[in-house]
Amino acid sequence: MDIKKRIVVLTGAGVSAESGIRTFRDSGGLWEDHDVMDVATPEAWERNMELVLRFYNQRRKQLYEVSPNAAHYALVELEKKYDVRIITQNVDDLHERAGSTHVMHLHGELKKVRSSVDESLVYTLDGWELKVGDTCEKGYQLRPHIVWFGEPVDMIPAAAQLTETADILVVIGTSLNVYPAAGLINYVLPGTPIYLIDPGHFDMGHITTLRFIKAKATEGVGTLLKELLD
Ligand code: APR
Repeated sequence: MDIKKRIVVLTGAGVSAESGIRTFRDSGGLWEDHDVMDVATPEAWERNMELVLRFYNQRRKQLYEVSPNAAHYALVELEKKYDVRIITQNVDDLHERAGSTHVMHLHGELKKVRSSVDESLVYTLDGWELKVGDTCEKGYQLRPHIVWFGEPVDMIPAAAQLTETADILVVIGTSLNVYPAAGLINYVLPGTPIYLIDPGHFDMGHITTLRFIKAKATEGVGTLLKELLD
């Protein structure tokens, strides 16, 4: 029997940058011109629900206008030879739209909304706009299904367990600044090859199994494919 090697891929905003979705830290600490604390925290929601809804409505609307890029598609290509498991920090659905079959979202999903009181009530929003007064079946206001700063990242234990099973770890387009997501790379077993694809600067010389492909995602994942599929 042919058992496929497992590749766990951790992606961040950079994998979607060439689709036209701006990364957070490449735009001067502002996220589409907003201080992240004004739009992506529970306090922001308490203070100004309308602003938070408007911000995520814009992000959601934009998502309908963009498409997966060559990097998303190349990761689908990898499934021919490998058991590919994607763990993404992104709230977009570009991995799914490209055709990746195993995608875990650490920080939530833009196209989903949930009850602001009963977390178990999660819905896929029809269209892009969520308004004040849109409620769950129990009558509570709906909020974006997003993990905001200061909120627990419930998927971390499952993501850590998955990372431990990696034969190869691939990290694409993340500044590795935001924890606990950034800590996932520490869960690989000793000796596991790690590929890092990013045009930015990283100080990770201490990881002896690291192969740093300093390139944008579309180009870098192309290089990865050549190395892993040949
Ligand atoms: N291809 C690959 N990487 C790129 C590209 C590109 N075309 N353009 C930029 N990058 C890299 C940057 O060099 C940087 O390392 O993408 C990374 C983006 O980093 P961040 O903006 O910090 O995004 P991310 O690491 O995903 O942020 C983590 O923080 O904003 C919150 O919750 C949000 O999930 C997000 C988390």
